[in-house]
Amino acid sequence: MSPDDRARSAVAAMTVDEKLRLIFGYSDQAVTEVSKVPDEVVSPELKAYVQSRAVKGSAGFVPGVPRLGIPDQTQTDASIGVRNSLIPSTALPSSLATAASFDPEVPRAGGAMIGAEARATGHNTMLAGGANLAREPRNGRNFEYTGEDPLLAGTMAGALIEGIQSNGIISTIKHYAVNDQESERTTLDVTISAEAMRQSDLLAFEIAIERGSPGSVMCSYNLINGRWSCENDYLLNTVLKRDWGFKGFVMSDWGAVHSTAAAANNGLDQFTGFCCVTDKPWFAPPQFKAALQSGAIPQSRLDNMAERILWALFAKGAVDNPTKPAPIDYAAHATVSQNAAEESLVMLKNDGGLLPLRGVKSIAVIGGNADKGVLAGGGSSDVTPVGEVIRINDRTFLPSAPLVELKRELPRARISFDAGMNPAAAASLAAAADVAIVFVTQYDSEGYDGSLELEGNQDALVAAVAKANPKTIVVVESGGAVFMPWAARVTSILEAFYPGIRGGSAIARILTGKVNPSGHLPISFPASSDQLAHPALAGLGLPGDAPTEVTYDEGAAIGYKWYDLKQFRPLFSFGHGLSYTRFAFSKLAADQDGNAIRVSFWIQNVGRRRGKDVAQVYVAPSDWKKSGWEAPKRLGAFAKTDLKPGETKRIELTIDARLLATYEAAGNKWHAKAGTYRLMLGDASDGQMQTAEVSLPDYAWSASKVIEP
Ligand code: BGC
Repeated sequence: MSPDDRARSAVAAMTVDEKLRLIFGYSDQAVTEVSKVPDEVVSPELKAYVQSRAVKGSAGFVPGVPRLGIPDQTQTDASIGVRNSLIPSTALPSSLATAASFDPEVPRAGGAMIGAEARATGHNTMLAGGANLAREPRNGRNFEYTGEDPLLAGTMAGALIEGIQSNGIISTIKHYAVNDQESERTTLDVTISAEAMRQSDLLAFEIAIERGSPGSVMCSYNLINGRWSCENDYLLNTVLKRDWGFKGFVMSDWGAVHSTAAAANNGLDQFTGFCCVTDKPWFAPPQFKAALQSGAIPQSRLDNMAERILWALFAKGAVDNPTKPAPIDYAAHATVSQNAAEESLVMLKNDGGLLPLRGVKSIAVIGGNADKGVLAGGGSSDVTPVGEVIRINDRTFLPSAPLVELKRELPRARISFDAGMNPAAAASLAAAADVAIVFVTQYDSEGYDGSLELEGNQDALVAAVAKANPKTIVVVESGGAVFMPWAARVTSILEAFYPGIRGGSAIARILTGKVNPSGHLPISFPASSDQLAHPALAGLGLPGDAPTEVTYDEGAAIGYKWYDLKQFRPLFSFGHGLSYTRFAFSKLAADQDGNAIRVSFWIQNVGRRRGKDVAQVYVAPSDWKKSGWEAPKRLGAFAKTDLKPGETKRIELTIDARLLATYEAAGNKWHAKAGTYRLMLGDASDGQMQTAEVSLPDYAWSASKVIEP
């Protein structure tokens, strides 16, 4: 039987109480405290069940129905690995880092690895697949997401989900939707037009869902146009379930539920996180049952909620292939993480070819706790790493120290270290060495937004070192973009993001040339705060849960689109990334292909080292304003290619019709206007471009997969 039929017949065999078991989730805290809940809310039998079967230390638990072979849902965070204080796991680089690989194979392999660890530790659901756009560069969770462009973000998040689910478990794309800042995240009301949403944040989710087919979607804490995300009829029922034909279930972010009937009727399928132990009565079966009895929630809705949850469990393999504890090959998994980092770190600057380091006799390594490890982001994605657990000022450093790894790669060089507390002392160490490498770190976390200015004395530290040694390299470990007031004064800059459990090794191998860098920026780095779409963060500094509003009047003009629109020159552009070799493009050709565009071109490695380049095809109508575009150009397609010196390859790519169109709310249509479209090929959004043109006829089609055009 198909997953649809199996889900339907399972629902038909269930009692109301069994269906209700599936729709209320217990957080770890709730599991501990469920014994305090009155017996008429949770029966003694169910309390005992929850306490004996939940995986301690994990994000959540939803009881199954053993009589029918329906498994419990054991839920673990998050996108870089299994998060459980009691279970060590392998941390990938941050999702923003792996997006910088511009190669969906990287998150796919990473997802397969972390999903295997989830399964082996008894979890059949990962709360992984962050796909919010980096609309707000200060968003404290940008590191959990996949960048500022809908095509890139959707492709990379979709690939991670596909990899995770290849283990026969469910992955959850999150946080749906427009949850683009952390300040006042539980009360923020976002105003944005349907047109802008469909062309930006929602397009990223649409692409990720098409590619990754997640079993579940997590609705977010915020409100969108006055409606809580988890009871937002437009987002849940109209867009997700009708237009995109999503068959799985919507789970709330932990505690993001504000009602019973309104939530259920507007499309929430699983009330996750807090069953029965808070002062929120809607997190409990009796209130739901009363709403069924009064008719406030139709019985058919409860059936549909259960059916969607069951569909995901059947379709993704969680019923047929129950999880069971298994040994984990941590060494092999660390290699997957290291490979992800080596594909993802971005060389932003390299004047005079100082890198790779060759034949240097002495190096001063400075700052960033580079003697201890590499920084990781905070919040629900912060994993307990395999090996040493290093916490410095409440922050996790993963046990892969760049200093140790550099010494391993360069056994003959004299490598000294200064913690960077005192810029003058660091500068004198730097002055005595051939080369200085300064590590700077910027901590970001769920729950609050970051600053783009480096914390503490780090800007002064870099400036002092650069003054003392003309050969200064800066390695940046950050959640997202940071300002670099010293960028012009240093020779080389490597953006390492949060590089994961083998990050130190990846950094050392790139600096020394064992690995040729091939990451490109998935976000723009602003030059200064005047370039931001919103000078001040809405709600910043207000007490928690203060009603806050933000209007995203930049609409879909996010990241490089905003910079192009405003003619701002960022510090480093979206798509930028250097290599130790050079590449050349030629013979760009473009043809209409149905309602899409097909492009082909040749790429050659014209340097002396093997390397990988990221070909980026941007597209624009001849008059973008008249065509109603949000910005002068959009990324239409991309591909990463590995080339030996002198080697040439032909590449063919298709530009999705939605990237040529605007969304029209009246009629719920995508509409590509007739006219000439210009294709621009290069390896950065601001670089040299090959161009070609193609004419397209006027074409409009339904944005709904279930409604005929
Ligand atoms: C976060 C989610 C996470 C959940 C469970 C929430 O606070 O926003 O991303 O999956 O907690 O830990």
